[in-house]
Amino acid sequence: MEPFRIKAVEPIPFPGPDERRAALVAAGYNLFRVPSRLITIDLLTDSGTAAMSAAQWSALLSGDESYAGARSFERFEVVVQELTGYSEVLPVHQGRAAERILLHALLGLGDLCVSNTHFDSTRASVEAAGAHALDLPAPVEDDVADPFGGDIDTKALRELLAGTSGPRVRCVVLTVTNNANGGQPVSLPNIVATRNLCDKYGIPLYLDASRFAENAYLITERDPAHAKSTPREVAHAMFELADGCWASLKKDGIANIGGLIALRDAPLADRLREQVIAFEGFPTYGGLAGRDLEALAQGLIEVTDADYLRYRAESARWFGEQLGLAGLPVLQPTGCHAVYADAGLLLDHIPAQQLPATAFANELYLAGGVRVCELGTLVFGRRDPGGGADLPAPRELVRFALPRRVYTASHLEYVVDVTEEVCAKAEALRGYRIARQGGAMRQFTATLEPL
Ligand code: F0G
Repeated sequence: MEPFRIKAVEPIPFPGPDERRAALVAAGYNLFRVPSRLITIDLLTDSGTAAMSAAQWSALLSGDESYAGARSFERFEVVVQELTGYSEVLPVHQGRAAERILLHALLGLGDLCVSNTHFDSTRASVEAAGAHALDLPAPVEDDVADPFGGDIDTKALRELLAGTSGPRVRCVVLTVTNNANGGQPVSLPNIVATRNLCDKYGIPLYLDASRFAENAYLITERDPAHAKSTPREVAHAMFELADGCWASLKKDGIANIGGLIALRDAPLADRLREQVIAFEGFPTYGGLAGRDLEALAQGLIEVTDADYLRYRAESARWFGEQLGLAGLPVLQPTGCHAVYADAGLLLDHIPAQQLPATAFANELYLAGGVRVCELGTLVFGRRDPGGGADLPAPRELVRFALPRRVYTASHLEYVVDVTEEVCAKAEALRGYRIARQGGAMRQFTATLEPL
């Protein structure tokens, strides 16, 4: 059960079937373009959507809004230093600002950045620096539920580093948990092995620590060697193995905005601070209000609480089981921040180029005002430079993301009921064609037409 009781509430909208259909048509069949006032349950993302605790709300009032040297920065800095062990702490307004500033300092034209899987904004920053983002996720055996499906393929990394492209590798990034790969955790032995390879070749290792606490908790659950450790101890061990990290604090900061860079290398941190000043704000606020830093400092303490994390993992697991019983092919095991399902298996009569994951997500909205995120060919499909059909994504996934402390089990039961309704009429669903699309990250703005 939820390890909290509710102190402030917000009504949720209940648009009727006609309103939902009209909203979807007006949005060009793209759920990103549907206003939230027409969404009943919003599982689009776990980013920036958390409910803050009473302690966080009360911390807001002690926010120090001084331009330079704010007390709130000092509190935030100490919390981050104690959590990570890194001496240098730079707040920024959100994760992608951290990525842009750090990756532009580490990477140049023709360099390689290697990761278990780059999140799409991370990839965009790598490419904007003129470098190439290479994903080396550990291979998955079909039909085997891997407890550490977020790992990097250390064999492939070793071969890469020893080969002719080795000298081009300037940075290795482990995304914990691996959001673009089912939200699965990275194991501690995998981080150790990556560290050893980085040491051998003199390459820095960074964590994209946006969901560090969930990764740490899943290690305590799935690795018997750490069954007796606290999530905070495991998180500390993870940070210790890396040279530094960045994070979108809109996830495990349990607040609505914020990001950070934290590292040991003081001269590099000084260079990064110059960029923070140029693009974010003075380094003691980094584009945030003092009250944001207070809420984040408190959130970063609350997020490693074992009861909170157990609830998070157990509710995702329960929700995944229920969606499976409703007829959805759910990826196993579930992580913490979302349940991922393969709409391509459910809608195997719709070819990837006709966007089955989008077809499923849109039908879920029409059936019950539920918004989920498509992670199929609309997001990950590569466009054919010759103007031919898109190269499909590896899988047609949809992500039911779980905002932190926002929805109760009965909200999720409602989503299961709506899903069951959609699964029952799966054969009748039709695909879409893209009517208009932009360049990078087309999923946010594209408009579609039903086929
Ligand atoms: N890294 C990871 C692993 C992320 O999941 C995200 C954002 C970012 C970096 C970028 O952070 O949004 O604060 O700039 N993920 C969100 C999501 C958007 O829905 O998964 P940001």
